[in-house]
Amino acid sequence: MKQKIITKLLTGMAGLGIALGAATAHATPEADRQELIKFYTAKYPNVKVEDYVYGALAFDADSKAQYDAIMEFPPFDSQVEQGRKMWETPFKNGKTYASCLPGSGKQIAGNYPHFDEASGKVVTLHDAINKCRTANGEEAYKVNDMKTMGLLTAYMRTLSDGMMMNVKVEGPKATAAYEDGKKTFYSRKGQLNFACATCHVQNGGNRLRSELISPAVGHTVHWPVFRGGDNLVTLQQRYQGCFTQVRQVPPPQGGETMNNLEYFHSALSNGMPMKASVFRK
Ligand code: HEC
Repeated sequence: MKQKIITKLLTGMAGLGIALGAATAHATPEADRQELIKFYTAKYPNVKVEDYVYGALAFDADSKAQYDAIMEFPPFDSQVEQGRKMWETPFKNGKTYASCLPGSGKQIAGNYPHFDEASGKVVTLHDAINKCRTANGEEAYKVNDMKTMGLLTAYMRTLSDGMMMNVKVEGPKATAAYEDGKKTFYSRKGQLNFACATCHVQNGGNRLRSELISPAVGHTVHWPVFRGGDNLVTLQQRYQGCFTQVRQVPPPQGGETMNNLEYFHSALSNGMPMKASVFRK
């Protein structure tokens, strides 16, 4: 009897593996994205894909209504305002962020991360901002410092509101970085043997203890978030929290593993509108 149940469980899991594309290495990013959408929409036909940008709120009308009310008068406005001042303050040499970023820094966030052929590396928006700083004789910000990079991007990203996520994965080196990020997302590790996908794919839309879990599609477009209304959290800071939650040692923020993860993860939200900054529980 016991044997029968175990076999049934395992067959069920193998079936899941196929449905989730965990084993389909080298599928195109668009095929990966579509496969996940197919999986979620089969499970939750009543939840609109465009609402996935709200994360777990897409699955809970009451929490979404609360979010809408909070977003009318965001409690974190003063922090975004601090970021605006940082953005507008010229460097010591008189130049500004706007003078050294593409498009004066407007409507560009959806192009990041992008793959830089020259260095053979993924470049996040945070990296591009730091490159701009060092090129103008300023010190780079620590990417995990919420009081500098966090606040600056809480404003800077608002300049890209409404732009569609448009992450490109072209050529063998970019594809390798994307596949590396995908591997991190699907690999079960740590004491609890969880992968990002265990929660955000297999259990997307389910409750874990008391928390509803968001789907991976739509995850990367609304950053940074202010948890509880005033606690600024960037995307990689969130990754770090999720790694720690399942007792994995998080890779360093801004390092290759995190950046490749952000690259893969962002491509899953291609075609979805950017918005900064937003409230989260
Ligand atoms: C044990 C389950 C679990 C695992 C494993 C996990 N997460 Fe999470 N994650 C959560 C929960 C719970 C939340 C908060 C509710 C929500 O928004 O989904 C969350 C939130 C997030 C958010 C914020 C969503 C939003 O809209 O605010 C992102 C992004 C995220 N996780 C990415 C990841 C990544 C990347 C990994 C792998 C490194 C990962 N998570 C692993 C449970 C998990």
